[in-house]
Amino acid sequence: MQLKDLREHGVGERVADWDGEIFEALEGLHGRGAWFAGTEKSCRINAKAMPSALEKAFAHLALDSAAARNAPHLANPIAPTEENLMSGMKLFKGDCAGCHGDPNNAAKREAESILYPSPPVFALHPPRKSDYQLFWIIKSGVRYSGMFWWDGQFGKDASGQNVSDEKIWRAVTFLTHLDSLPPAVAAEWHKKE
Ligand code: HEC
Repeated sequence: MQLKDLREHGVGERVADWDGEIFEALEGLHGRGAWFAGTEKSCRINAKAMPSALEKAFAHLALDSAAARNAPHLANPIAPTEENLMSGMKLFKGDCAGCHGDPNNAAKREAESILYPSPPVFALHPPRKSDYQLFWIIKSGVRYSGMFWWDGQFGKDASGQNVSDEKIWRAVTFLTHLDSLPPAVAAEWHKKE
């Protein structure tokens, strides 16, 4: 759809109102590139600033559509058994909760993030993407964010095999079952360390 089509649908004025805001949002998203080009004075590259709702929406749209377009449709090999969910939860607490939080610090995490974009607090907002999209995001990371890639980060087993894929799938299985954890796993998830 083009701008003229939007006007025909009667939203021209709205779009005009948004112009300034859209520009700021794009400037925020591209701030880093422009900084390299030496125009830092006019750009928002500081993580401490509070991004506008529109800028946040653009950033999430970009991640959503990248995952939808690029993630290969792989089948999750990890069944959601109690044992697998427990190991996924432990892995998440050990390697991911430092940024994404857990039920005991969720509200504080949400209110006082020091990363921009802020890591989603899954204890409050379980991810709604499909397993294969989450796997792809976790394996390859998210550019310009604190979410680095986990491919190869979990080391190798005794035979020299990279164990990351299996561990990532375990974390994915835990994340997609956050709303329906078996009682024993939920109890451990909520336990204060
Ligand atoms: C150093 C901080 C950090 C660590 C550690 C980290 N993440 Fe992230 N993660 C982030 C940030 C920041 C984002 C948001 C990226 C964005 O929106 O652009 C993110 C995004 C995600 C997303 C995308 C959510 C969505 O709905 O699109 C998933 C899934 C995810 N992380 C899972 C994990 C898992 C699993 C681990 C551990 C193996 C992990 N993360 C470790 C910072 C981190």
